[in-house]
Amino acid sequence: MKLSRILSNQDGISRKRANALIAAGRVTVDGTPCRSSAREVDRFSSVALDGEIIQAADTPHYLMLHKPAGYLSATVDTVHPTALDLIAPALRPELHIAGRLDRASTGLLILTNDGQWSRQLTEPKVKIPKVYHVITEQPISAETSKRFAEGLWFEYEQLRTSPAQLEQLGPREARVTIYEGRYHQIKRMFHAVGNRVTALHRERMGQLMLEADLNPGAYRSLTAREIDSVRQTGPAGF
Ligand code: URA
Repeated sequence: MKLSRILSNQDGISRKRANALIAAGRVTVDGTPCRSSAREVDRFSSVALDGEIIQAADTPHYLMLHKPAGYLSATVDTVHPTALDLIAPALRPELHIAGRLDRASTGLLILTNDGQWSRQLTEPKVKIPKVYHVITEQPISAETSKRFAEGLWFEYEQLRTSPAQLEQLGPREARVTIYEGRYHQIKRMFHAVGNRVTALHRERMGQLMLEADLNPGAYRSLTAREIDSVRQTGPAGF
């Protein structure tokens, strides 16, 4: 939200007065005077007028969870356990999931309360690479990698998937990189070439790599470098 708007949301401060207070240097953002009414300020920054806090900063949270099979990528469910059940209760109400995994899928799941940051991670236009380890029912045919690279037509969304890469690791085992996160995308891609996914594990999203010693069900906070890697992601995903 613009700084002038945060001020003018206060009782008795008109938009005109807000601009005048900001121009006079009486308003600080995170303790530093800001004279730009147009400055975008999110809820993770504090705003003060003449030293008096009018917006307290919320604490941002960025977590990496090793999702076990059987957990829903949802915040609440009456039937199945959810990924949020694995997180400390005090944090749960604030968090959302940045890029879901199906209930049977395992691996890297990111949770945060920073919507702007998570959009950068999941927005198909940004084209962050998502890397999956896949086991299939049938042997993976020679033409699968070509078909994935060409993109596959998804009738429901009326779109062609972005070119994806398949690295064959065994007759029924591959590492697949996609750049979107459409509903059941990997399963539907294999289905489109006459195969079926029997196990799916997400290893990486952009530069966020599932930590090898994070056991299923365990989580940790992202490092400052990991958080920034998402902010700095350009259109190529790196
Ligand atoms: N694609 C799928 O089909 N399932 C997932 O959980 C993630 C990607």
